[in-house]
Amino acid sequence: MRFSRKFQKLFSVDAAQSLWEHACRWTHPVSARRILATIDRAELEKIRERYPYRPNARRINAYEDAAYWIGINVKHVQDLWLDRAPSLQILDLGCGAGYFLYLCQLFGHEGLGLDPDDEPFFRGTTKLLGVRRVIARITPQTPLPDLGRKFDLVSGHRVCFHRIARDEEGIWKEWAPADWKFFINDIRTRFLKPNGRLLLEFNPRRDGSSFFTEELRTCFLSQGARIFRRKALLAADPNECPRFKQI
Ligand SMILES: C[S@@+](CC[C@H](N)C(=O)[O-])C[C@H]1O[C@@H](n2cnc3c(N)ncnc32)[C@H](O)[C@@H]1O
Repeated sequence: MRFSRKFQKLFSVDAAQSLWEHACRWTHPVSARRILATIDRAELEKIRERYPYRPNARRINAYEDAAYWIGINVKHVQDLWLDRAPSLQILDLGCGAGYFLYLCQLFGHEGLGLDPDDEPFFRGTTKLLGVRRVIARITPQTPLPDLGRKFDLVSGHRVCFHRIARDEEGIWKEWAPADWKFFINDIRTRFLKPNGRLLLEFNPRRDGSSFFTEELRTCFLSQGARIFRRKALLAADPNECPRFKQI
């Protein structure tokens, strides 16, 4: 990266927001080390041996690396004030290995995951971490299965369920704004309590740009989302633009 671009990045809006996030976390520290000590890492390694990487799998998703994933999820918990909130009911969409809900449960919340059972490794880790999950696949323009109750928080970190298929160049075909509107309305009307929140976090695109293209940013804003860096936060009430603070 050229110096001028590095310099620009250093003083970009994103850098300022990142600094703000760090400062907020610093005001209420959480010890990742103490949380890590509660996890049986030898057992995690055994689960990985039982379910080795599939050929061509990306090592970036080395979910047996508990130290790394606890560090990441401690930040998620701090950003959502879950280390300081009264007990909440949380539904985590695409819960993966279960680290986020494991932390939520440590902080006194009640968690339920939702994930397709594509990855046998996740079957092992969620069991080890004591994370309950519903096996289901989210598909566009289709209501989620009835879970018989509503939640204070519905979350999705490093969301993937909007990806439909890759084209010949490896670029994902993904949900259109109409699919997002359907999904957000389904979550709001069937899964959120009156003061509930929907939090979605997205990886950057392959070229490093934000998930929020102009079209998607407009779509999420039209639904009342507050967008902050890689995250969109929505309230149960479409007329409310929620803040990142205690639910
Ligand atoms: C990148 S992983 C993220 C896992 C976890 N949320 C995290 O932050 O570590 C994406 C997750 O979404 C799940 N997933 C992918 N497609 C899905 C779909 N259509 N419906 C529900 N979950 C899906 C995968 O099984 C996986 O657990």
